[in-house]
Amino acid sequence: MLERNGSRHAHLRKDHSAGRGLRNGPTKHGPASLPSGVALYLKELVEAQPMNDIGGIPKKKIRVPDLVVMKKRGERIVMLTAYDATMARLFDRAGIDVLLVGDSLGHVILGLDTTIPVTLDAIIHHTLAVTRGTRRALVVADMPFLTYQIRAEQALRNAARLFQEGGASAVKLEGGRAVADTVRKLTAAGLPVMGHLGLTPQHVHRLGGMRQQARDDKTAQDLKLDALALEDAGAFAVVLEAIPDAVAEAVTSRLHIPTIGIGAGPHCDGQVLVSYDVLGLFDTFVPQFVRQYAQLGNAIVSAAKDYADDVRQGMYPPSSAPCRETTSMLALK
Ligand code: KIV
Repeated sequence: MLERNGSRHAHLRKDHSAGRGLRNGPTKHGPASLPSGVALYLKELVEAQPMNDIGGIPKKKIRVPDLVVMKKRGERIVMLTAYDATMARLFDRAGIDVLLVGDSLGHVILGLDTTIPVTLDAIIHHTLAVTRGTRRALVVADMPFLTYQIRAEQALRNAARLFQEGGASAVKLEGGRAVADTVRKLTAAGLPVMGHLGLTPQHVHRLGGMRQQARDDKTAQDLKLDALALEDAGAFAVVLEAIPDAVAEAVTSRLHIPTIGIGAGPHCDGQVLVSYDVLGLFDTFVPQFVRQYAQLGNAIVSAAKDYADDVRQGMYPPSSAPCRETTSMLALK
């Protein structure tokens, strides 16, 4: 990105903190109204080194409060989905800030048509793999369909499994005012929550398909109220999926917590994409907002074909030099 954009952050810096926050005195929602110890801690973080620009090689472990700090500094948050340890290790090495063990694994790993059949056990299984491969990135695990909507107590128990068994540092769940009480309870119990608004794939049947949301004044206003309710309930960030740029921009400037966009334009505080889309691995359906940064699907097909040709033609494996043990074993026959 450095080459493409010139100075890495210069064009990206947006002063979301204008008129509020630590440097501007107390506000209704802002960190300045936090207990003085916490406010001081955040102030030190804000003034410390950037989270993602340490000589190009990110070192500092990303923790939940860092994301608010990044928003305040105008440092974009970079998030990708990950589902296994090897890929997590590579993304971590690349300096991706947040790895989401998304229920999109239903599509890209399990070959399902929707995320609805994805189970809590499946997310725990993949979260554990991702946390094993990760040193720096913040690992967020998706709460699957109907694991948090029935009762707050059910949500608490299920979220706790993602932390205790999967090693997640935060969970993500879909919905706004309808889940705000649950978000409040999880946060109060020490389980950080990322919200998800706009196109929420677990609601695909009600929404009538995977289509852009908040397209008129009423639904845009509803989305803004949902975002404010999530922030008020203690969510530390919110994903905005498939909504008009202007709506994402308005919500982003209204919230103190960061917004992470996907198909929501350039004005969010960060961006997330499904890694299999970014890498050109998943070609069943490529959303129009996706940019493929590699064509690994083609590279894999070509490597697998070369291997198959070599095996079929007796080119692989080559003969190995006989070792002493093998020679003596042959002599025994
Ligand atoms: O499941 C997922 O991968 C997601 C992202 C697309 C935000 O929720």
